Amino acid sequence: MSVITWILVASLLIVSVQADSKNNPADELVAVLNSNRTAHKSSALADNPGLGCIALQYIKAYQGDCKEAGGADAKKPIESSFADTFAPNCGVEVSTLGPITGRLLGCQSKYVSPSEAFSNLLIYDSMTLEILYSKNHTEVGAGVSGSDGGSPYFWCVLFSNGSANSSFVLDGGVAKTQRPGCFSGNNDDCSDANAWHSSSWSLAIGVLIALSYTLGL
Ligand SMILES: *[C@@H]1O[C@H](CO)[C@@H](O)[C@H](O)[C@H]1NC(C)=O
Ligand SMILES: *[C@@H]1O[C@H](CO)[C@@H](O)[C@H](O)[C@H]1NC(C)=O
Ligand SMILES: *[C@@H]1O[C@H](CO)[C@@H](O)[C@H](O)[C@H]1NC(C)=O
Ligand SMILES: *[C@@H]1O[C@H](CO)[C@@H](O)[C@H](O)[C@H]1NC(C)=O
Repeated sequence: MSVITWILVASLLIVSVQADSKNNPADELVAVLNSNRTAHKSSALADNPGLGCIALQYIKAYQGDCKEAGGADAKKPIESSFADTFAPNCGVEVSTLGPITGRLLGCQSKYVSPSEAFSNLLIYDSMTLEILYSKNHTEVGAGVSGSDGGSPYFWCVLFSNGSANSSFVLDGGVAKTQRPGCFSGNNDDCSDANAWHSSSWSLAIGVLIALSYTLGL
């Protein structure tokens, strides 16, 4: 086998492994959202982990009921749940809860990539576009979860106009562990094995291709 082929196979494997070790769909969603905002000349928003954790709690309030999360008669958790359950479950100091200036919520049975969820599920009309580009927001947090690690998959983005380092402050600087699901801003991997098959697949395919090259197939 030629040197070039080896280099190709090796880089393929490295790419797969890296994708696997930085596997957080909520972080990816915020990255997609911010690059879309800046392309539209709106400011990039600070990714606040306390707010991200609360976005994941917000999803959990639907208890897996996809119908209630979307469409014209979408429900909202009652306002008091932020202080009563979401903040305490995350370890966010209740006194630092900031105003919510917008939300984007979607749910469907099939898992899609964060960029597809952004453009096909969360942003779907002029109102959701207006929320996306609003100048009221200063920070953002995203949560992604399947119920019990499986279908249906919920995606939630919460916006706030709080100041990034003094709102949604985490007690001791770390969020309480959340299972299942992923949230943004925490600089963590989130490879819930039950929920996120895609990167294991790319690794498996990488290995398979490498093997077939090695065996000269
Ligand atoms: C931003 O996202 C919206 C909704 O998906 C899309 O219509 C628009 O083309 C995107 N803008 C850029 C610059 O990608
Ligand atoms: C921005 O905030 C103002 C005042 O709270 C409100 O009237 C307006 O509707 C908000 N804009 C958007 C796009 O949400
Ligand atoms: C933040 O948003 C809330 C609700 O929209 C509004 O009442 C408040 O004045 C805003 N605060 C700042 C600092 O813009
Ligand atoms: C918040 O961040 C700003 C800018 O980084 C800084 O000037 C300010 O001192 C910080 N405030 C607190 C309470 O840490």
